Amino acid sequence: MLDLFPYLARVIHIASAVLLLGGICYAWNLSKYKLLPENPAYGFRPAVWSLVAALFLTGSYNLVNKMPVPKEYHMLFGIKFLLFLHIAAVSILLVKPNTTPERRARMLTGLVVSGLSVILVSAALRALTQ
Ligand code: HEM
Repeated sequence: MLDLFPYLARVIHIASAVLLLGGICYAWNLSKYKLLPENPAYGFRPAVWSLVAALFLTGSYNLVNKMPVPKEYHMLFGIKFLLFLHIAAVSILLVKPNTTPERRARMLTGLVVSGLSVILVSAALRALTQ
């Protein structure tokens, strides 16, 4: 039988990752052509906060559900969590109204790199526990 809560937590976790990283990659593309709106804070700000919170909550639930895990898992998870902290902090600063467009473009490049790295690490975490 399908376990409803772990299933829902996984759906919300993956959907939040897709939405946050998708938005970041789209904004990064716009920034390359200097097409970022003057103030993206209005539309994207509540989304960034809610998606970061959803990733943290559902991710913690996934983690508790996975225990016990091999010791390499802990090491990789540490890397994932540091990448997450980078993504959370930078995307929150990104949508502050007083951040300049030049700074936003630089921040977006860093976010794309960390975002792709977090996916690499997440897939490895899954492979370790299959
Ligand atoms: C930018 C932030 C994050 C992204 C993009 C992300 C992405 C993902 C993705 C795509 C998966 C699915 C891997 C798969 O099933 O193949 C996953 C699984 C998971 N995530 Fe995250 N995640 C993020 C943050 C977090 C946080 C903050 C936590 C914990 C506090 C967390 C804990 C987990 C756990 C435990 C799994 C299950 C891994 C496994 O199958 O062993 N994630 N994440």
